[in-house]
Amino acid sequence: MYGLVNKAIEGLVVSEFGAQKWQQIKEKAGYHEETFISMISYDDSITYNLVGAASEITNVSPENLLEAFGSYWVKYTAEEGYGDMLKMGGDNFVDFLNNLNDLHQRVGSMMPGLVPPFFETEGLGDKKIKLTYISKRVGLVPMVIGLLKGLGERFEIKNLQIHNEATLHEKDEYFTQFILEWN
Ligand code: HEM
Repeated sequence: MYGLVNKAIEGLVVSEFGAQKWQQIKEKAGYHEETFISMISYDDSITYNLVGAASEITNVSPENLLEAFGSYWVKYTAEEGYGDMLKMGGDNFVDFLNNLNDLHQRVGSMMPGLVPPFFETEGLGDKKIKLTYISKRVGLVPMVIGLLKGLGERFEIKNLQIHNEATLHEKDEYFTQFILEWN
């Protein structure tokens, strides 16, 4: 994944647990550089190793870390130069979800070889939507839950409820269906 993601993991860990813990986590993950460069693509194993090491050192489950990371990402990108891109994504929750593929396409025009997720939406009436998350990567559903909660906060959605089905694996893709409902 692009260094931007790993840098955001660093930002979250340092803000929640301090710089010393982050040094320990990097070491445990076997990453020996000082930091990451946002616009360079790193092997996915580095990201997964960082989450695994962070879980062991902080005693927070990988799922809970990924969820916290998802919420953090919405704020992080807004502050790290992607605020306009977030604004272009729409001024309400549903429009924004519908525009996520375009958003990642724009990101991909700056980050060659980006492997973005893909989302499909289907309205199920007022304030209820089916969202399908399609990914080449496994294990990131908790991150999506955090992202949705972060977006819920950004758009001041009330009582957002998120239900997800088991992930299905077909060919080289992972499909997860979510039902989102709010007031
Ligand atoms: C302007 C804001 C955003 C930027 C710059 C951005 C950029 C990125 C980047 C660089 C990656 C890593 C992919 C790679 O390196 O191959 C990624 C992955 C991902 N993004 Fe975004 N993103 C943004 C907003 C969002 C939002 C709001 C969501 C909400 C659902 C989202 C969902 C995801 C997911 C789930 C992944 C994991 C990739 C996977 O499943 O394979 N992103 N994004």
